[in-house]
Amino acid sequence: MVSRVIPVQSFDLVLFGATGDLARRKILPSLFHRFQLGQFCDSSRIIGASRSDMDADSFRELVADAVREFGQKDEVNDKDITAFVAQLDYVAIDAKGDQGWEELGKHMRPDMVRAFYLSVAPSLFGDIATRLRSTGIATDDSRIVVEKPFGNDLASAQALNKALRANFEESQIYRIDHYLGKETVQNLMALRFANSLFEPLWNSSHIDHVQITVAESIGVEGRGEYYDRSGAMRDMVQNHLMQLLCLTAMEPPGKFTPDAVRNEKVKVIEALEPVENTDIARGQYRAQNDTGSYRDHAGDPNSQTESFIAMKVQVANWRWAGTPFYLRTGKRLRERVSEIAVFFRDPPHNIFQGSDPAKGNVLVIRLQPDEGITLHTTIKDPGPGGMRLTEAALDMTFADSLAEAERPQDAYERLIMDVIRGNQTLFMRGDEVEAAWAWADPIISGWDDPRHAPQPYDTGGSGPEDSLLLLHRDGRRWRRIGN
Ligand code: BG6
Repeated sequence: MVSRVIPVQSFDLVLFGATGDLARRKILPSLFHRFQLGQFCDSSRIIGASRSDMDADSFRELVADAVREFGQKDEVNDKDITAFVAQLDYVAIDAKGDQGWEELGKHMRPDMVRAFYLSVAPSLFGDIATRLRSTGIATDDSRIVVEKPFGNDLASAQALNKALRANFEESQIYRIDHYLGKETVQNLMALRFANSLFEPLWNSSHIDHVQITVAESIGVEGRGEYYDRSGAMRDMVQNHLMQLLCLTAMEPPGKFTPDAVRNEKVKVIEALEPVENTDIARGQYRAQNDTGSYRDHAGDPNSQTESFIAMKVQVANWRWAGTPFYLRTGKRLRERVSEIAVFFRDPPHNIFQGSDPAKGNVLVIRLQPDEGITLHTTIKDPGPGGMRLTEAALDMTFADSLAEAERPQDAYERLIMDVIRGNQTLFMRGDEVEAAWAWADPIISGWDDPRHAPQPYDTGGSGPEDSLLLLHRDGRRWRRIGN
């Protein structure tokens, strides 16, 4: 097969927080894999930066271990690791003080793409951005990359934007939402805007409702302290589910350019109706056997933070008025499943007397696992016995249908290479993040009221009772999570 890896320009990438969890689990193994595939060559440099006092060799060892532990087992080999770590350097740096900045400056080379990846607490974004500018290390075409959480409400997101924009132009700022780097999330755009089949039907005249589910089987053990300050609404809905909603609901952009795509997403967020508490179900998982409950993992026996949320969202515009979007996400559910299910309206008239009327088609876009698309259709039940109807699925699992394709890239691989290429399409713009918080803030603010306390739900299930009622009330049902 002809390689589809298009090499990027040589770069100097400075990774702040280089010894942290995200760097070890995701960022460095992703860089390794892109290097291994030849997407960048050995004239590029990755400079680790963190508070830890270590030399470059110790950092190289740490990265080699991280790649062995978190890289794809069948792809990792010592020869490639040795070549990869030879491109690494390290600078011990104090984000808030003077130590290390001069040395970092000496590592930067002219004529290289410069990127600064801030895999650190958001409280350090401002300090690092200011230092990068005042020392001249960041130039007018350098890129700065930041991770979530991007604020925990509108005011804090605005403050972060202000701190970044005081030093960098919006065109230099790359705010990561790793869901946008997932293969199927981009496929959603291809499905909608590169096919003529669905788009004429993609509106409230033909679509009854949409269900967006991001279910996880893991709990919050190990990160309960962070999670308890955040909850499913801030951790998942305001960002990842919001992105899925935007890509499903947005108008076709005129072109596939960063601002054309992001303009359309912002319009969706701005069209969202406020959500009443009666249209929300919040839950907390409770122990089954020895699995531990949310409150054990959060370390707070009185925690009122939700590990599950389901909500009914209305997009108030010409295309979607009257078609609700139901969102749900939670921890410790039956299986890990992320999908968007588009429920088309039932056929208006049943000509097959004596048979149950046909149900509307359902188009399911699976993000993970088994990325693919399934269209549920009604067919004649095969064989004799008259005209009986039954359901059949037109199923396309990408791994089967595109057997010759390379394994899908990890979201981080694609996103980091996009930073180097200077393509912001899959990154959130500042106004987009603020619009999402402006929608989320009033919803969250009502939750201090004990009447809105989260309901317990059993681990391994599909969430609290109220979540089921949210749809039953409207004469609808959630798709089952997993088998
Ligand atoms: C992160 C959340 O952003 O996304 C986690 O903070 C969540 O709580 C994770 O588990 C889910 O990502 P993925 O790619 O595993 O679906």
